[in-house]
Formats: sequence, C-alpha cells, structure tokens
Amino acid sequence: MTGASLVIFGATGDLAQRKLLPALYNLAARGALPEEFDVVGVGRRPMSDEAYRDKVRADIKAFCTAAPEGPRWDWFVSRVAFAHSTLEGPDDYARLAARLGALDLTASRGIVFYLATPPDAFGPIVEGLHQAGLLEERGGAWRRVVIEKPFGHDLASARALNAQLASLVGEHQIYRIDHYLGKETVQNLMAFRFANGVFEPIWNRRYVDHVQITVAETVGVGERGAYYDEAGALRDMVQNHLLQVLALTAMEPPISFRADDVRNERVKVLHAIRQPDEGEVRRSVVRGQYAAGTMGGEPVPGYRDESTVPGDSSTETFVALRLFVDNWRWADVPFYLRTGKRLPVRASEVVVQFRCAPLQLFREATGAAVGPNVLTVRIQPNEGISLRFTAKVPGAEMRLGTVDMAFDYADYFERQPTTGYETLLYDTLTGDQTLFHRADMVETGWRVVEPVLDVVRADPRALLHDYAAGAWGPPAADTLLEVSGRAWRNPGG
Ligand code: BG6
Repeated sequence: MTGASLVIFGATGDLAQRKLLPALYNLAARGALPEEFDVVGVGRRPMSDEAYRDKVRADIKAFCTAAPEGPRWDWFVSRVAFAHSTLEGPDDYARLAARLGALDLTASRGIVFYLATPPDAFGPIVEGLHQAGLLEERGGAWRRVVIEKPFGHDLASARALNAQLASLVGEHQIYRIDHYLGKETVQNLMAFRFANGVFEPIWNRRYVDHVQITVAETVGVGERGAYYDEAGALRDMVQNHLLQVLALTAMEPPISFRADDVRNERVKVLHAIRQPDEGEVRRSVVRGQYAAGTMGGEPVPGYRDESTVPGDSSTETFVALRLFVDNWRWADVPFYLRTGKRLPVRASEVVVQFRCAPLQLFREATGAAVGPNVLTVRIQPNEGISLRFTAKVPGAEMRLGTVDMAFDYADYFERQPTTGYETLLYDTLTGDQTLFHRADMVETGWRVVEPVLDVVRADPRALLHDYAAGAWGPPAADTLLEVSGRAWRNPGG
C-alpha cells in the first residue's frame, strides 16, 4: 500500500471510539498499514494532539483486543493528530485545509475522509471539502470519502443525497460502508459459491425450496432511541445489511472479481426483487415491537418504556418478510428475511433449504418422511457452514437420522481479532470498492422496501404486533411460513 492518511470527522464520537480506531490499530498491529500513514481526528471541541492521543489510547484499551503498547503502538500513536474545526462555513474548511497541509497530508498522497457523523452532516461536509479543494485528485493523488448508513431515509432522500454527492465527487471516490459486508463469512459466501464446483449447479429453483436470512440481536435499543425510533428495523437493517446478504446469496457468478463486475451482479438481484403491491405487502410482511420480557433470566423493559423512546411509538424493532427474486434462477423461490432486537440469541445465518428427494423410498421402512437437506451459513457468531442430511442409524433395522456435516472457521483458521471494520478500512485505503454500496444499489434497496414504508406511512400501526423480549418475534412471523408448510429454522435450535 502506498502512503495514505485517514481524516476522521466525528473523531470523538461513538463509532470512531468503538470501531474505527480499534480496527485501525488492529491493522497497525498486523503491519497492514503503510509506514507513511497519518490519522487525523477532526472534532468541534478544541483538543491538543496530546490529549487526543491519550483519548485514542484509552479507546483502544477499552475496545481493542490488541494492547496499546510496544513498538507498533509507539509508531501508531506517533501518527495520530487532532484538527479542531466547527465545520460551519468556508473559512473553517479553508483552515482545515491549511492544518492538513501543515501536517503534510495534502502533498501527493491519498487521503480518506471518513464521515463518522450523523447523516445530515454528509452533504454539508462533502460540500465544504469540495469548496476547500480537498477532494481534487491531481498528479496521482487520490481522495476518497467514506459515508456510513443510513444513506437517506427513503428512496426520495437517498436520490437527493446521491445527486448532491455526484455533483461534488466522482462515484469512484465514494465509499458507502456496510459493515455486514466486512464480515468474513459474508465474503465467504462468494468464495463458497464461486470457488467450488459442486454447489453452483444446485443453487437454483430446481433444487432450492426456499432461503431464510436471519439477523437476530439480543440487545434492545439502549441509548440509540432517538435515531432508531425514526428508522426502525426496515431502514436500519433490511434496506442495507439483509438485502446485501440476499444479493450475495442469489447473485449470478460475476465475470471477474473486479469491484464493478461484482457490484453489477449484486444490483441485478436487487432489481429483480418483485415490488409488492399493497395487498402483497399485507400478506408478506410482519412488523413487531418488543414488549417487556426476560433476557438471560433478567427482566427487561419493552421498547416503548425505553428512556430514549416515545411512549406511543409504533416503530418496528422486528420485521419478517417474504420476497421473490423474479429471474430465471429464482422464480417462485421464496426468500424469507427477518431481523429483530431482543430476540433469544445473537446470531446471523443464511439457510438454504433444498427440495426433498423426489421419491420417499424410506417411508415404509421408517414410517416417517425424510427431511430436506439444509445448508446453513453462520455469519456470526461461530462462523461456519454446515450441511444437514439424512443417514442410516447403525443397527439391524432400517432407521434414519439427521446429521450435520460441519465446517467451523475456528477449526481451520487462526482467528484474527476483528471489529468487522478492518477489511473495509483497508479497502478504502487500497481503493477496492467491491464491498461498498454504489449509488444505484442504494436506490434499488430503497425501491424494495418503499412499498412497505408506503403502507406504514398511511397507517403507522399497520402490520405491527407486540412480542415479548426474548421471543422469536410475534407469532405472525411464524404464520408467514406456516401458510406454505414451512417453518423458520432458529439459530441454535
Ligand atoms: C447496525 C445497526 O448497522 O448494525 C444496529 O444500526 C445493529 O442497529 C448493528 O445493532 C448490528 O451489527 P452486528 O455487527 O452487531 O450484527
């Protein structure tokens, strides 16, 4: 990697503290950063370089598995500086440019501007950087801007944000980060499907009965109510993380692993998702909100009783939906997606359930139907892949049992300490946009959830059910599958 710098806006905020700096330090500890490297935190409150370094040290101590000591730490901390800016007008950005110039960042090297800020600051900051000439790429110098979701609040606002960004920087300079795509097992979906010859021929409507994608969290909304209550599970998780996992599961093989070849295939899947009309939304979407319940034996409050949430909120903390990908490979195969807070376990999985064998040859011998083959990709925790199949139980009589052929990452590979951000930060520094959202992808994601948002806009309590904290969402989410004789496969179940 050539020399590069990272300028973090929102340098003292939660994201920088818990994810970005620990991830950067993990990269430093692994020797994955170039020797010529600088990190500049930009914050609205004045702070000396020394004070910022102390804060970075404390953050890394608290949130990083690698200890802040030894020669690597000495090197890393010596590369950290702070720039104070209120970011209010052109003068502030001119001063920021001067400060970065004084730190020698603006010479010929690459600079990543990471906007770890609330989303309403994205447009104004990029505008300010643009006006100060900080985004110009000249003489081999590159400039990149990283933004975090939410990329807009709905289709219209996402389009407006994309248009504003496009008027200021090239798409090749914009890195819209989705930390799910930084997870090893999410990337492994591509390796599993396209580096092996045996799975792809059966990865289609002829052999697959349906697909389930579950992203379950045990946490409640905590201190994030102000943000979350405006978003809800559809905007917070489905529009981005779950649809991207679906896209990687369902996409066609790309012609190469160059960023745009992969992204073209992902966006094609999103385009192929059927847009439901209102009747179909009502049949295929279930929203839930957690009520008081128990988690790990401890009583926990309901969503509306959380201190940061309005008492009459109708925001969903759980959503389950059935989607169809209308293309030759997947026509009529349901994709069931669900995600929620205060569910019984923290687990993210993709389950591909295959059709049963065409003849139930063993029914007579066993008196029971033989179950389908099920492939489970565990994204987190206990990353791995398992394939369920039927085997003969040893003994004189013909009895059948279900067994799992299991691959656990931990058995084969040394685990690298990770926050999930290492890969993505590394990619922003090396210029690999494969795992990032492109403008058209963001808009297509919104197009998928927009019909549901329309129904909820017209009636905020539409499709909404309570579920007790610690349950697998409302019973209506089970009915969604039961109507076609299917059932959720609960992680760990
Ligand atoms: C974030 C959401 O994008 O993903 C959070 O805003 C959610 O609400 C988080 O908790 C889940 O991420 P992970 O990596 O813990 O599964």
